[in-house]
Amino acid sequence: MKNVTVIDHPLVQHHLTRLRDRQTKPADFRANIRRLATLTAYEATRDLGTRQCTVETPLETARGLRIFQRIAVLTILRAGLGMVDPILDLIPEAEVWHLGIYRDEATLQPVEYYQKLPDTHAADVALVLDPMLATGGSLVAALDAVRRWGVPRTKVLAIIAAPEGIRYLTARHPDASIYVCAVDRELNEHAYIIPGLGDAGDRAFNTTGV
Ligand code: PRP
Ligand code: URA
Repeated sequence: MKNVTVIDHPLVQHHLTRLRDRQTKPADFRANIRRLATLTAYEATRDLGTRQCTVETPLETARGLRIFQRIAVLTILRAGLGMVDPILDLIPEAEVWHLGIYRDEATLQPVEYYQKLPDTHAADVALVLDPMLATGGSLVAALDAVRRWGVPRTKVLAIIAAPEGIRYLTARHPDASIYVCAVDRELNEHAYIIPGLGDAGDRAFNTTGV
């Protein structure tokens, strides 16, 4: 799959297995989302632009590199929220934009309820966060907004994807790079990822069955 990187690192697979486990409680679920977001970001940010610089150590001048690109983190509410802090720990200068999108469970279409991206001054790189790429409708809506903003380079950081969602997203946004921890078998009749992990937002925020 062109533009899709599946991160099969042992640590990723270890924490992903705990994330999938139905016995994993919300606090541990959130902790595993954070770990997986960090590991996914490590892979997804490999090609960020750097410039040479110097830095004074206590002993002498050393050569170094600094990231010079303007990086925007866009998170899809709700489940993407849990991926923001670990990425800000890695890139404290990043700007964070929130996109309110949920999937209408009857029509399976994305519903946008919050979006305040400006019309001008697009970032150089957008990191778009959502743990679940199911039909792809929510991420396509998010990347449509990123495209309208004018960002030249977009990277999607997800945790579990379905093949159907990857096909839809890559067809609509062939230039986006997609980083995932696993590509699962399929969607079920309710468009849930199988085997998946269930409803990511509900599991993270302890709203299952409410
Ligand atoms: C989940 C998930 C994605 C979306 C994926 O959010 O976090 O945003 O579903 O499905 P799709 O690829 O078929 O669009 P959900 O709609 O449950 O919203 P919520 O987290 O606010 O409950
Ligand atoms: N949203 C989720 O949270 N999980 C799925 O499997 C599909 C959509």
